[in-house]
Amino acid sequence: MELDDVDTIAVLGAGAMGHGIAEVAALAGYNVNLRDIKDEFVQNGYDEIEWSLGKLAEKDQITDDDADAALDRVTPIVEMEEAVGDADFVIEAVPEKMEIKRDVWGEADEHAPDEAVFATNTSSLSITDISEATDRPESFCGMHFFNPPIRMDLVEVIRGNHTSDGTMDITEQLAEEFGKTPVRVRKDSPGFIVNRALVPLMNEVAWLVGEGEYGIETVDSTSKYGMGLPMGSFELADYVGIDVSYDVLEYIHDVLGDAYEPAPLMREKVENEELGQKTDKGFYDYT
Ligand code: CAA
Repeated sequence: MELDDVDTIAVLGAGAMGHGIAEVAALAGYNVNLRDIKDEFVQNGYDEIEWSLGKLAEKDQITDDDADAALDRVTPIVEMEEAVGDADFVIEAVPEKMEIKRDVWGEADEHAPDEAVFATNTSSLSITDISEATDRPESFCGMHFFNPPIRMDLVEVIRGNHTSDGTMDITEQLAEEFGKTPVRVRKDSPGFIVNRALVPLMNEVAWLVGEGEYGIETVDSTSKYGMGLPMGSFELADYVGIDVSYDVLEYIHDVLGDAYEPAPLMREKVENEELGQKTDKGFYDYT
């Protein structure tokens, strides 16, 4: 498979990352099959894309015609066979659980054309382990976008133990076609590059606040005005979903050890289902 052969991209999972990746692909001119397991999930993702394209057009970052054409290229789908049957490239962005990812890939592998390339948007899990749920691990790699995909420039392209050079090359080229900057991640290790650094930062500030000396706003203001980050670390955790960061952290902790032990404050938020903006409450209140 060459980049010029890629016409239709299936995006599996229409949540925050999936719909954002689908939007990026559609804006780059690809036909996109956006798939989720329920009509309401896939429709929500489609509505988010429509909203986001509208915002970009409102700010003259794209024309109204570009927005309409991109939306026309997105087809919401529930059946896996329909989603991947004509796909040249499949990108998966389902929840960060190994069993779920392996199940989804096993099913996609049954229905996708033999030459289709597979990429997972996992933010930390082993590419090798996920790829072994398919019969084509050499055509499988990581393609990790950042939230919100429409605004964040970087894409990590991650090699699993079985990934071929051709798969790495075409995935990097596709990221460039999307207008992104790929970084090649050579080692399939937890959190890759960005989340190995970013998620422990979110965890560390949660330990710090848990010690009782500083409030969340104080620590966040130091992230913004001392480290020059665009958002405070707690604000960012709320933005990406505390559960998402927590899943990454647990995995890094399991594999790399005690230095990454999740802070009680993060665990409490997950147990109380105060997951950030998506539940209207996380470290901050959004009601
Ligand atoms: N599409 C279109 N417009 C959008 C949008 C989207 N998806 N999301 C927000 N906007 C709009 C807002 O509605 C708002 O519009 P108005 O001005 O009309 O109200 C505007 O964009 C927001 O603009 P702001 O001035 O508030 O913010 P900004 O433009 O300066 O930057 C940001 C927003 C890009 C999110 C910036 O805050 C940022 O870079 N934050 C950090 C993000 C980050 O670190 N992401 C990585 C997370 S980690 C991850 O993703 C990895 C993982 O696996 C866990």
